[in-house]
Amino acid sequence: MTKKRKDLLRLSDLEPQEVTDILDLADKLKKERKQGIPHRLLEGKTLGMIFTKASTRTRVSFEVGIYQLGGIGLYLNAGDIQLGRGEPIRDTARVLSRYLDGIMIRTYKQRDVEELARYSSVPVINGLTDYCHPCQVLADLQTIREYKGDFKGLKLAYIGDGNNMANSLIAGAIKTGMKIAIACPPNYMPDAEMVKWGKEAGVLEVTDSKWVAAKDADVLYTDVWASMGQESETAFRKEIFSGYFIDGALMETAKKDAIVLHCLPAHREEEITGEVFEKHSAEIFDEAENRLHVQKAIMVTLMG
Ligand code: CP
Ligand code: NVA
Repeated sequence: MTKKRKDLLRLSDLEPQEVTDILDLADKLKKERKQGIPHRLLEGKTLGMIFTKASTRTRVSFEVGIYQLGGIGLYLNAGDIQLGRGEPIRDTARVLSRYLDGIMIRTYKQRDVEELARYSSVPVINGLTDYCHPCQVLADLQTIREYKGDFKGLKLAYIGDGNNMANSLIAGAIKTGMKIAIACPPNYMPDAEMVKWGKEAGVLEVTDSKWVAAKDADVLYTDVWASMGQESETAFRKEIFSGYFIDGALMETAKKDAIVLHCLPAHREEEITGEVFEKHSAEIFDEAENRLHVQKAIMVTLMG
C-alpha cells in the first residue's frame, strides 16, 4: 500500500515554510500553464473527491487540476456511494486507500474528515468543513501575494460571519504574519481556540464594528451570511448580519489601493454590494482561478 506523506486537514497542519512552498509551487504551475508548458507531475495517479455538500470551484479545480497533472479525479457524491447509506467512514477510508492515491473530502463535521484521515493510508485533503476551508485560504494567500508582493505589514479585514472562512483566514494570518481584523456580531465569532491562537500570535483583532476592522486595510474579505447547511437560518441571519457588508463607504476607510476578495459564491446586496463586487471582480476571479493552481500545488506536495 501507498505510504502516506501528510494530510491537509486544516491550515494549522502546515508549517509557515510549507505554506510558502505551496504558494511558490502554485505560482510556478500557474506560470507554466500560461506558457503552455506541461507538468505531468502526478502521471497515473487517482484522486477520489467525496462531496456531501455542493461545489463549483472546489470540484472543478480539483478535477481539472489532477487531469492537468496527468492523473484522474473521481467525483464521489456521498449520496451515491455506500457512505451515504451508513457505511462507516473508517471502512470507506480503508477501502478507498486500496484504490486511490489521495482523497479530497467536503463535508460538515471536521471530525469526520479527521476520522477519514486516521483510517486512510493515502493523503486526505479537506475541501471544506463547517470548521475550516484550508484550500480556499491558500488560494487567497496566493492572490494577496500576487497583488501585494508580500504579506509583511498587510492588514486583512474580514467582515461577516465568524465561520469556516474566518477560522482559516486567522490561520493564514498566523502562518504569514499578516494582520487580520474580524468584524462580526458578538454571537457569531470565529472558533474560540482559533481566536485565542490568533491573539497569542499577535495578528488578530476581533471587533463588532466593520469600520474599525476595515480602517487602513489592504485586503477586504467577506463571505455569505448563511453557509451551506444553514439554509433554514437564512431569513434570521439576514437580520443579524444586515450591517455586515462591504460597500463603497466601507472601501473609503480602507487603503486607497485595497483589494477585495470573496471565496464565492457571492450574494450581491447582502454581504457585498453589486457595485463593489464588479469594481473588484478582477481580484475576485483571479482568486477563483488560483484555486486551480493552489489545488495542483497541494496535490503535488501531498501525493507526488
Ligand atoms: N469557494 C468555494 O469553495 O467554492 P465552491 O463551494 O464552489 O467549491
Ligand atoms: N462559508 C461558506 C463558504 C463557501 C465556500 C460555506 O461554508 O458555505
